[in-house]
Parts: sequence; C-alpha cells; structure tokens
Amino acid sequence: MSHPPTTTILPFIVFLLLAFSLPAAAEDACDSLVKNKCLSCHFETRICQKMKKKKGKSSWKRTIKSMIRHGAKLNKGEQKVLVQCFTSRDPSVLSLCGLDK
Ligand code: HEC
Repeated sequence: MSHPPTTTILPFIVFLLLAFSLPAAAEDACDSLVKNKCLSCHFETRICQKMKKKKGKSSWKRTIKSMIRHGAKLNKGEQKVLVQCFTSRDPSVLSLCGLDK
C-alpha cells in the first residue's frame, strides 16, 4: 500500500505556513498592535489626527507614555515598535487612517 496522504501533504503545509506566515507577521505587527492596544479606549481618529501632523519620535514617545498613564497596557518592546510604526508612517497605519489614498 502507498503512504497515507498526510505524509506527503504535511511537509507541504509546513512549507506554506513558513513561507506565508513569517513575513505577514512582521508586516502586521503595527496593524495588530494598534488594533489590539490602542482602539479599546478611543477610535483611531485620535491617532489619525496626529498622523496627519507628521509628528516626530519624541512626540509619539510622549503620547505612548501618556496612554500608559491613562491605562494602556504596553511593554517596552511594544512601545518601541509602536513609535516606529507611527514615525515610519507604516502602510497599515496609513491605511487604517485612510491616508494611503
Ligand atoms: C486606557 C485607555 C487608552 C488606551 C488603551 C489608549 N489611549 Fe490614547 N487616549 C486616551 C485618552 C483618555 C485620551 C484623551 C486624553 C489625552 O488627550 O491625553 C487619548 C488621546 C490620544 C491621542 C490624542 C492626544 C495626544 O497625545 O496626541 C492620541 C494620539 C492617542 N490617544 C493615541 C493612542 C495610541 C497610539 C494608543 C495605543 C498605543 C492609545 N492612544 C491607547 C486613552 C487611551
């Protein structure tokens, strides 16, 4: 008898997962952080208004610290990534704000 189908399909599935999930995870970091960490208290409009002003790193750092004082739960790494997302004008943030058009 031949091998059951799973023995041939499984490595292929693993390959697909590796090929597509890793780059997507890096790309979606900003998107999921903003959606999970920032939109529980207010709409993205607050963030988008600030995005329009093209504020720099120190300004965004102050905003993030201020959100933490309001109760946002963010570890050091997440704070850093978020500041990067906003100052680099990450495509997912621009798209969330409709600024990519
Ligand atoms: C625990 C609730 C809470 C969370 C979570 C939160 N915010 Fe806020 N945010 C507030 C409140 C309250 C205000 C209005 C008071 C103020 O302006 O400081 C505000 C105002 C703002 C403003 C406008 C004022 C400013 O400082 O420019 C921005 C931008 C902002 N939030 C961004 C964010 C971002 C980015 C995140 C995610 C990292 C986030 N917020 C998560 C509560 C929150």
